[in-house]
Amino acid sequence: MNQFDAGEIEISTDRARMDVDAIRAFLARSYWAEGIPREVVATAIDNSLCFGAFDGARQIGFVRVVTDYATFAYVADVYVLEEYRGRGISKTLMAAVRAHAGLQGLRRWHLATRDAHGLYRQFGFTALADPNRHMEIVDAEVYLRQRAGK
Ligand SMILES: CC(C)(COP(=O)(O)OP(=O)(O)OC[C@H]1O[C@@H](n2cnc3c(N)ncnc32)[C@H](O)[C@@H]1OP(=O)(O)O)[C@@H](O)C(=O)NCCC(=O)NCCS
Repeated sequence: MNQFDAGEIEISTDRARMDVDAIRAFLARSYWAEGIPREVVATAIDNSLCFGAFDGARQIGFVRVVTDYATFAYVADVYVLEEYRGRGISKTLMAAVRAHAGLQGLRRWHLATRDAHGLYRQFGFTALADPNRHMEIVDAEVYLRQRAGK
């Protein structure tokens, strides 16, 4: 378990401490995971390397890393609660991610962002050097359909 201190904010990778309800509450109103069901969040947490930011017992920030611990890592679901923003907490989270012992020597890191490029640039991310080499499948409505039972 990695632990870092950002003032009174604690960063932990202890999966048992991740607050599924708090994480789901944020993600369900995010621009990238609107309406995400609780069981999807729980499964994603169970199968990811998770970094939580905690104010005492309260989870106030999160990063989820999907990785094989050998070649690749995908950074997802990065957030800090509104009232804690602007204090460097996402930078502390990203520093913990990049420093994690299990995530060294990877060939590729990946992430998607609408407007936080300037955050990730500080941790080594760049725009795709050759977008033609990358492909994707995106089902943007999947959670909303699941919620509607379709
Ligand atoms: C993005 C977010 C995680 C930043 O958290 P934070 O703890 O307030 O950020 P920090 O105080 O650590 O500072 C972030 C740094 O990235 C920079 N930055 C670049 N784009 C940014 C953006 N869209 N939002 C916030 N900061 C941004 C800031 O200028 C700051 O750099 P600086 O300190 O060198 O000036 C937070 O605003 C958030 O949760 N936003 C909503 C969810 C979201 O958009 N997540 C990212 C999805 S890819």
